[in-house]
Amino acid sequence: MDIAELFDSARTFSAYEDRPVPEKVLRKLYSHLKWGPTSANSCPARFVFVTSKAAKARLLPCVNVGNVDKVRAAPVTAIVAGDGRFYEEMPKLFPSRDFFTIFAGRVAVIDDLLSRNVPLQGAYMIIVARALGLGCGPMSGFDAAKLDSEFFPDGRWRANFICTLGYGNLESLSPRNPRLDFEEACRIV
Ligand SMILES: Cc1cc2nc3c(=O)[nH]c(=O)nc-3n(C[C@H](O)[C@H](O)[C@H](O)COP(=O)(O)O)c2cc1C
Repeated sequence: MDIAELFDSARTFSAYEDRPVPEKVLRKLYSHLKWGPTSANSCPARFVFVTSKAAKARLLPCVNVGNVDKVRAAPVTAIVAGDGRFYEEMPKLFPSRDFFTIFAGRVAVIDDLLSRNVPLQGAYMIIVARALGLGCGPMSGFDAAKLDSEFFPDGRWRANFICTLGYGNLESLSPRNPRLDFEEACRIV
């Protein structure tokens, strides 16, 4: 895939072909996205791939009304979550420095890192998924407190956004909205 296929012509999908995404594709997705950069190599995002009927039945009541049909019809919905105790992995992820002590018990510092890095890792997931031929439908339209209590009752992981994944149905797409021009969105200083 070239850059135009990954970005310029890639679309957000709300409908998918009626075929599953094999587990090996989800494993391949993670095997690439994990290499995207994060603060101090903290890798704080966690990914729950909702594929089974039973798990989908637990997810649907947590999703806003306008997103219910999209999630119901999608072969996979990824919950992109942040691990509030990501620093417990720091001895493995950054062994040359004591990042555990820097983060442990410091809620504001932990939340700052999560707020910056979990959506970044979610974005890496979208780009890798597209490169693997999958369509993506990121969504913030869900009840985060409800979802967290359903899927993460111990409070350690917290959802940042959810994202449907599947083989996109091109016929479902409506005309695309524009983007801002360079002059509107960028400055070179
Ligand atoms: C963080 C995020 C949250 C979104 N939330 C929703 C949502 O709750 N429901 C929905 O239908 N689309 C949602 N979208 C999809 C956007 O509306 C869509 O990506 C945007 O309009 C661009 O569409 P395009 O990629 O087809 O050009 C969300 C996208 C992102 C990145």
